[in-house]
Amino acid sequence: DLLDQINRLEELFTVPQEKLKQITEHFKAELTKGLTVEGGSIPMNPTWCMGFPTGYETGTFLALDMGGTNLRVCEISLPEEKGEFDIIQSKYRMPEELKTGTAQELWDYVADCLQQFIEYHHEGEELGRLPLGFTFSYPASQDYIDHGVLQRWTKGFDIDGVEGKDVVPPFEAALAERGVPIKLTALVNDTTGTLIASAYTDDQMKIGCIFGTGCNAAYMEDCGSVPKLAHMKLDPKLHMAINCEWGAFDNEHKVLPRTPYDIIIDKESPRPGQQAFEKMIAGLYLGEIFRLVLADLHGNPDVCIFEGQDIGKLKKAYSLDASFLAAIEEDPFENLSETADLFANKLSLTATQPELELCRRLAELIGTRAARLSACGVAAICKKKGWESCHVGADGSVFNKYPHFKARGAVALREILGWTGRKDPIEILPAEDGSGVGAALIAALTLKRVREGQ
Ligand code: BG6
Ligand code: GLC
Repeated sequence: DLLDQINRLEELFTVPQEKLKQITEHFKAELTKGLTVEGGSIPMNPTWCMGFPTGYETGTFLALDMGGTNLRVCEISLPEEKGEFDIIQSKYRMPEELKTGTAQELWDYVADCLQQFIEYHHEGEELGRLPLGFTFSYPASQDYIDHGVLQRWTKGFDIDGVEGKDVVPPFEAALAERGVPIKLTALVNDTTGTLIASAYTDDQMKIGCIFGTGCNAAYMEDCGSVPKLAHMKLDPKLHMAINCEWGAFDNEHKVLPRTPYDIIIDKESPRPGQQAFEKMIAGLYLGEIFRLVLADLHGNPDVCIFEGQDIGKLKKAYSLDASFLAAIEEDPFENLSETADLFANKLSLTATQPELELCRRLAELIGTRAARLSACGVAAICKKKGWESCHVGADGSVFNKYPHFKARGAVALREILGWTGRKDPIEILPAEDGSGVGAALIAALTLKRVREGQ
């Protein structure tokens, strides 16, 4: 019956303390492996973002955020005062069709948004070429900071002819065609932006994380600990941010406790075999895991939830997003009447009380697993670097909006690192705006390095 099913799901989705520790140890080894010449499955991308801001960066910069959900254009002014900034911004929808359209359509759209922004905010002004920090939140190989070869699309993007190529020339060509006066100064990942923006106002920040549509982190490494940079003969003491791209952790399926549902998600995705860790954690997938479990239970003759009802809507892939789970977890009523309404409105299904209870438990299990697994990545970076106390800046819709995500992650960190005291030495805190302020700061730091001839 349904209680047996709840027990089965609990067993499938619960990650006990010992398992968290085992994952963390393997994660730590994989982070190190990713920095070697041979590499591993975690890309550990050098970003050429060299060190933290001092807080005294100045200037006016544009920032473009192409993360996946929205497209955002910002203009950031960094005044003389330490750690201050002013920002104006416009958000544009990132049309769903663009994610699987052509490269030309993508760059045209992005350039149109930038053009609109400049025309609106600088109408009639004689502008020099404004420096731009472009937050391109996908794995990119960079030999210098104003270029980046897309390693592969993630987060459901699937645009032909971009992977394996430098994304900057076609982007700049689209701007030039429109006569938009912009000079791309830095191509940055959202995690690197988050790290730098957070460190601008909090000098204990050592890691930047995104828990949103995708899931990833960046941290500051010493060049001497990056064997794959040895040929560059950099000063080993120099700092460079590393974009881990940890979504790819355990692509070889050695430690993560994958369920049959995770296996289906992977198989049906545009990039099977990629982003194993991300597919168990990120917002893009949480609702889909939930949907797959329910569809499975409906089809199981021993259980048969939503018996006799048309589950047409529930059968549609990616029809439920993380906000659906969040709303179930937030249902304040004992009888789960809000959850019942959600099922009726969104899926045209009538759920019985035991079915509603199963759904609530399932949402909790999926949300808790995501938070606990995320903590393994944070703990692994801290262990690798020997950091016993620090702040971690986090951003993204799951971190900011998914109920209990922060608290569940903090509990898991305590379990992994064996803390018992009242104050946690490593804290995951809401970040400053990485793709706005972070990208602008990185552009400022880059210009400063160029001026100083470094
Ligand atoms: C935003 C950051 O707040 O969070 C972006 O500014 C980042 O840089 C985004 O990509 C991630 O969250 P989501 O939920 O939009 O994927
Ligand atoms: C995906 C991307 C990564 C990004 C993350 C969060 O994992 O590959 O670059 O940082 O999503 O947006």
